[in-house]
Amino acid sequence: MAEKIVILTGAGLSAESGLGTFRDAGGLWAQHRIEDVATPEGFARDPALVHAFYNARRQQAATATPNAAHIALARLQKNWPGEVILVSQNVDGLHESAGATALHMHGILAGALCAACGHRWPAPSEMRPQTPCPDCHAPAARPDVVWFGEMPYHMEEIDNHLRDCAMFAAIGTSGQVYPAAGFVVEAAQAGAETVELNLERTEISRAFDRHHIGPATDVVPRWVDGLLTGGARRLPFA
Ligand code: OAD
Repeated sequence: MAEKIVILTGAGLSAESGLGTFRDAGGLWAQHRIEDVATPEGFARDPALVHAFYNARRQQAATATPNAAHIALARLQKNWPGEVILVSQNVDGLHESAGATALHMHGILAGALCAACGHRWPAPSEMRPQTPCPDCHAPAARPDVVWFGEMPYHMEEIDNHLRDCAMFAAIGTSGQVYPAAGFVVEAAQAGAETVELNLERTEISRAFDRHHIGPATDVVPRWVDGLLTGGARRLPFA
């Protein structure tokens, strides 16, 4: 059976589609306090502020288009003889716009979630406090994104994939947010080859076997081409 590849993606993958990262200079966390806009406590204190933050991001994501790196990953998922599992921390829908499917461990901007009953529905471009849940009618609509202090989605499924993959790659993520930052160690312990693709070295670079440094739109298509032409586990450039 052909080997399984698990690929973790982060904000750096969508940077060249015009969507800001979190921790680069001038990133989202330089402009907004995490505790105000990305925690359940912040939402309870000021839901209008939190909705405004995610409304702006939703509207920006809706006009963004997938870049060469998203497109290359979709090509890999389609053409690799084994499974390619994309696990994304990104809440934009650019993997799907490129024709791929991904496990969105931090949720999606395009989704709304009722904080009262757990019902999910497509988010309107503008969500407001007091928006009633279409199912239970409680005025408790929130973006279907995972905040700090909450459990990421799909964790059991992701752990299972990490345990039986032959290769684990992390693309455009700073490795500062757990549990995603710990995936490389989990995969390595299970015997996978590990590779990091990023604009620069990260705090967890030492945990990876190989590194491809450069913008995602350059290094990701070349890495994918190498996998698809070179077969199994050999990378085109080390
Ligand atoms: P970060 O903003 O922490 O890191 C972005 C990474 O992308 C950095 O390592 C950059 O070097 C790299 N990068 C930037 N531009 C790039 C490019 N053109 N090509 C390749 N790499 C590039 O974003 P994440 O690691 O995704 O969570 O952040 C993880 C989580 O922290 C997010 O999902 C979010 C955030 O707080 C929540 O909101 C719960």
